[in-house]
Amino acid sequence: MTTTEHPGSGAGLAGANATESARQGLSSRRAATGAADSERIATVVGAALEGIRAAIRDHRVGYAEFDAFKRWLIDVSDTGEWPLFLDVYLEFEVERVAADSQSGSTGTILGPFWLDGQAQLTSPATLPMRDDEPGTPFVLAGQVRGTDGTPLAGATVDIWHTDDEGWYSGFAEKPPAGNLRGVVTCDDEGRFEIRTRKPAPYTIPLDGPTGKLTLAAGWSPWRPAHLHLLVAAPGHRTVTTQLFFTGDEYLDSDVASATKPDLVLDPQPTGNGAEIRSDYDFVLEPE
Ligand code: DHB
Ligand code: FE
Repeated sequence: MTTTEHPGSGAGLAGANATESARQGLSSRRAATGAADSERIATVVGAALEGIRAAIRDHRVGYAEFDAFKRWLIDVSDTGEWPLFLDVYLEFEVERVAADSQSGSTGTILGPFWLDGQAQLTSPATLPMRDDEPGTPFVLAGQVRGTDGTPLAGATVDIWHTDDEGWYSGFAEKPPAGNLRGVVTCDDEGRFEIRTRKPAPYTIPLDGPTGKLTLAAGWSPWRPAHLHLLVAAPGHRTVTTQLFFTGDEYLDSDVASATKPDLVLDPQPTGNGAEIRSDYDFVLEPE
C-alpha cells in the first residue's frame, strides 16, 4: 500500500468547496424521498446511535478516546470535510440501496467534486484543458439509449475527472477553473465522443481530518483513477456513475468502495499517436 502524500493536497480548499457544492443537494435530486416522519427518524437515527454505543461497549472506549472523537468531529466541521468524509465512507451504501430499485446502466457514487455551470459542449467534443495538458490522450465514445433500446436524442453526458496528477479543478490550486469538466450534448442518435486525458489515481486530502483518520487506521487513502459521469435525457432517470481502468493498482482497494466490475474500461490504442479509446454505452430508464 502506498501512502505518499498527494503533492500540494489542499484539505482546506477541497473541504470548503465540497461543502458549498453539497449545500446545493445534487445527490438528493437523484431520487425523490418523502420528508422523514418521526417514526422513521427514531428508527434510522436510533439504529445509527446504537451502532456507535455498541462500539463503545464492545471495545471499552474510555474518556480519552471519547474526547478525541469530539475533537475530530469538530475538526471535520471546521475544515468543511463532511461531504468528503460522508462520500468516502458512507455514500456507497446509500447508492447500493438506491440501485436495488433501479434499472438501466450500473451507477455508483457521485462523490464530493461535481460542479454546476461547466462548459456546454456538443459531441464530438474536447474537454477544456491546458495547452500542455499532461497525460495520455483518451477518447470516451458511446451511445445513450432507453431501456427499450431507443437512441435518446437530446441526451447529455456531464463528465468531470482529475488531471494526470490526480487533481480536480475547482478543488485544488493547480488546475485552472473548468479544467477537464464539461457537459456534452449527444447527437440525434444519442451518440457521444469525448476527447480528454486519462485521469490518475487520487488520494483523498491527507492533511485534513478524513485523511488523518484514514492513515491513523492504517487504511489506504487511494481511489483508483476514474471518470465521473452524469448521463441524462429528457423523461429519463439520470444515471450517476464512474468509469475505472483495467489494471489500476487501486481497483480492489478503493477507499470509497465505489468500484463495480461493470464499470471497468479496457481502452485500446487508436493508432493516432499515444491516444487510447474506450466505447461505453449507457441505458436510461424512463422516469
Ligand atoms: C472523494 C473523492 C473522489 O474523487 C470521489 O470520487 C469520491 C470521494 C473524497 O475525497 O471524498
Ligand atoms: Fe472522484
